[in-house]
Amino acid sequence: MRPRIRSFSSPSCPRPAGSGRMALLLLAALLLAGCGGRKNQDDSLRIGVALYTQDDTFISTVAQNLEWLAQEAEGRTGQKINLFISDGRSSQSTQMDQVDRFLARQCDVLCVNLVDRTAAAVIIDKAEAEGVPLIFFNRQPVAEDIQRWSQIYYVGASAQESGALQGRLVLDAWRQNQEELDRNGDGVLQYAMLEGEPGHQDALLRTEYSVKTLTDAGVEVEKLANDTANWNRAQASARTAQWLEELDGQIEVVFCNNDDMALGAIDALEKQGLDRSLWPLIVGVDATAPALEAVASGQLYGTVLNDGRGQAQAMVDMALALWSGEDPAQAVDLEDGHYVWLPYRMVTRENLDELREN
Ligand code: GAL
Ligand code: CA
Repeated sequence: MRPRIRSFSSPSCPRPAGSGRMALLLLAALLLAGCGGRKNQDDSLRIGVALYTQDDTFISTVAQNLEWLAQEAEGRTGQKINLFISDGRSSQSTQMDQVDRFLARQCDVLCVNLVDRTAAAVIIDKAEAEGVPLIFFNRQPVAEDIQRWSQIYYVGASAQESGALQGRLVLDAWRQNQEELDRNGDGVLQYAMLEGEPGHQDALLRTEYSVKTLTDAGVEVEKLANDTANWNRAQASARTAQWLEELDGQIEVVFCNNDDMALGAIDALEKQGLDRSLWPLIVGVDATAPALEAVASGQLYGTVLNDGRGQAQAMVDMALALWSGEDPAQAVDLEDGHYVWLPYRMVTRENLDELREN
């Protein structure tokens, strides 16, 4: 029997709702166990997807969308698509081995969510040697690396834009309701910043541009605290609990580089049992499902939609184009021959329903 990780058209693989994570883990296990096929043995498009870790809310939604959209594309085009998904478990050397296996298994296209953004060159050289097009996503390699070969692409969203939109959410709140937001009435916005993984483009630029949007608009700000919580809810909760203790009621806004950390800040506030009217304003990025619930309940003031579905769709469309020898620029909006940028979008209680319908 031809070994296969997953064929979307196979009726023997039903996937009940909520089993995505398990299925992905299973796929990774199968992959590690050495299943594989040979190029040209069948006419399937084989896409290897290397995740930096599956233990990341936003990344697991991108992976899930890739599965759905590949399945949908298979139905639409009649092209059989096999998706191989690996979990790098936050180790670059583990991910390197997984990329080697994808290449040995003669994948036709690789989609790589780097563990370490500076490790791109090694992967590029491997893929180029095999003539396999490479689509990086979410964790952006430096421009020099992207320019190394014509068949290197990046699918993502502008980190700067997400920071600016998050700043915009707070600026709007400040303008609409300064009296409430400026708790100590000094005309200055006192804030704390929960930062993502150090060195990640989204952590650096969201931190910078959220605040810059306010200062550019003439709002005076004061940073009371900042720390990394590595995109992680539990770490964010621990940091916030400490700040709440040390800074007793002084924080007016908590900027969070992503929604999981915003939910962590909310966890800490809930644990403290502080009356809701005394909570700082909290903003995130991603628009994950639990974050949208928190926006609906008013615990989270707003977030910025990180279009994981759009990013997954772009990768499937590009993979299909590359597979059939078409110019990927026919399938997606390609900037500078290498980049696909998906727009971000502000989310508050006001446009929540619109978003949930989509
Ligand atoms: C960001 C996202 C974070 C995290 C990170 C991983 O774009 O907002 O939640 O998923 O990517 O690289
Ligand atoms: Ca103030």
